[in-house]
Amino acid sequence: MTEVWILGGTGRSGRAIAAELRKRGIRPVLVGRDADRLAAAAEGDRVVVAASVDEMAAEISRQRPAVVVNTVGPFSTTAAPLARACLPASHYLDLANDLASFSTTLALDEAAATAGRTIVTGAGFGVTATESVVVKLCEGRPTPEQVRVDMIPSLAMKEGVVGEALAGTFVEGIPGVEGGGRYQGRRYRDGRLAPARLGDEPTRFVLPDGATVTTSAMPLGELVAAQRASGAPDVLAASSEVPSSPVARTIMRLAMSLLAIGPVRTLAKRQLAAVKIKARPQPREYSWGHAVVRWADGTEREGWLRVGEAQAWTGVVPAEVVHRLLTGQGKPGFHTPAALFGSSLAEACGGEYFIA
Ligand SMILES: NC(=O)c1ccc[n+]([C@@H]2O[C@H](COP(=O)([O-])OP(=O)(O)OC[C@H]3O[C@@H](n4cnc5c(N)ncnc54)[C@H](OP(=O)(O)O)[C@@H]3O)[C@@H](O)[C@H]2O)c1
Repeated sequence: MTEVWILGGTGRSGRAIAAELRKRGIRPVLVGRDADRLAAAAEGDRVVVAASVDEMAAEISRQRPAVVVNTVGPFSTTAAPLARACLPASHYLDLANDLASFSTTLALDEAAATAGRTIVTGAGFGVTATESVVVKLCEGRPTPEQVRVDMIPSLAMKEGVVGEALAGTFVEGIPGVEGGGRYQGRRYRDGRLAPARLGDEPTRFVLPDGATVTTSAMPLGELVAAQRASGAPDVLAASSEVPSSPVARTIMRLAMSLLAIGPVRTLAKRQLAAVKIKARPQPREYSWGHAVVRWADGTEREGWLRVGEAQAWTGVVPAEVVHRLLTGQGKPGFHTPAALFGSSLAEACGGEYFIA
C-alpha cells in the first residue's frame, strides 16, 4: 500500500496539506466522519468514512496505508491510539504542539523503533520553525547550556468558529505531563521539566524586518523539541500569542485555575468551540521562528527563520515530511521534523534563515 491518508481531511489543516501533496504529485486519501463534507473537499480523490477516532484506527489497521497524517485534535487524546494503529505498517505524523500529546507519542518511541516505523510529531508551524533555528545554531557545536525559543506566527483568519478540536486543545491543559500541574507552565531546568509561570519572561524583540513583537513563556511542544534538538539542560519556550501585559497575565492565570474545576471545563470547552472567528488579514507579512543559544564558555548565538503565513506553512511542512517518508528518508522511532531531517527541511519548505 502506498497511500497517504489525511485524518480530518475536511478541516483547515487537512485541506491545506492535501493541496500541498497534490502539488507534489501525491494524491491523498481523505479520512473523516461525514461523507458529504469529505466528497466536497476531496477534489475527486478517494475518501474513507470513519465515524470516530477508534474507527479511523481500525481502518488504518485493516487497510495499512503507507503514511498517516493526523490533523484531528486534541492530539492529547487522538495521537496515541492513531500512532499505535500505525505501528504494524504505516508511518505517522501529526500537527501536535501541546506537551500532553508529545508525552504520549514519545512513550511510543521504542515500539516504533522496534517496528521500523517513523513517528513525526509537531509537523506544524511552531515546532518546526523554532526547532529548525535551534538545529541550525547548534550544527557542529558542543551541547549548549541554555536555549530560548520564540514562535511568532502571522495568521490570517477565515470566518468560522473555533471548533471542538482547537477548543479541546486549549481547555484540557496538559494532564499527566511531569514537572508540574495540569494548568501550570513548564520549562526545562537541569535537564528536567519543571514548573514555570505562564506568561513569564516577557521580552520585546525587533524582528529582522524591523517590526517589533513581545513574546512570553508558553509551554508548548516547542519546549520539548528545542530541548531534544539541543540537549541543553535549561530551556524556555515563548510565544507572541500569549497576552503579555501584567493585567492580562493575571486574568489568564485566574482562568487557568478555574479550568481545574471539571464542570467549568466542560462548559468552557462547549462555549469556546462555538465562538465565532471573524475574518482577519494576517497581521504581519511574515511568521518567524527565533532562538537564542548559550554555551558554557559564554558564547551566544541568535537566529531567525522567516516563513510566510503560519497556517499555509502548516500545509507545506507535513507535505514535505510525507514526501521524505515515502522516499525512505525517515528513521524508525519518535522524532520532531527538524531533528529528523535537519535545518534544510525548513528551507525546502520556503523558509529563510537570518543568523546573527
Ligand atoms: N502545530 C500547528 O502549528 C498547528 C497549526 C494548525 C492547527 N493545529 C492543530 O491541528 C488541529 C486541527 O486544526 P484545524 O484548524 O485543521 O481544525 P478544523 O478546521 O476544526 O478541522 C478539524 C478536523 O478534525 C475533524 N474532527 C474533529 N473532531 C473529530 C472527532 N472527534 N472525530 C473525527 N474527526 C474529528 C473534523 O472533521 P468534521 O468535518 O467531521 O468536523 C475536521 O476535519 C487542531 O488541534 C489545531 O490545534 C496545529
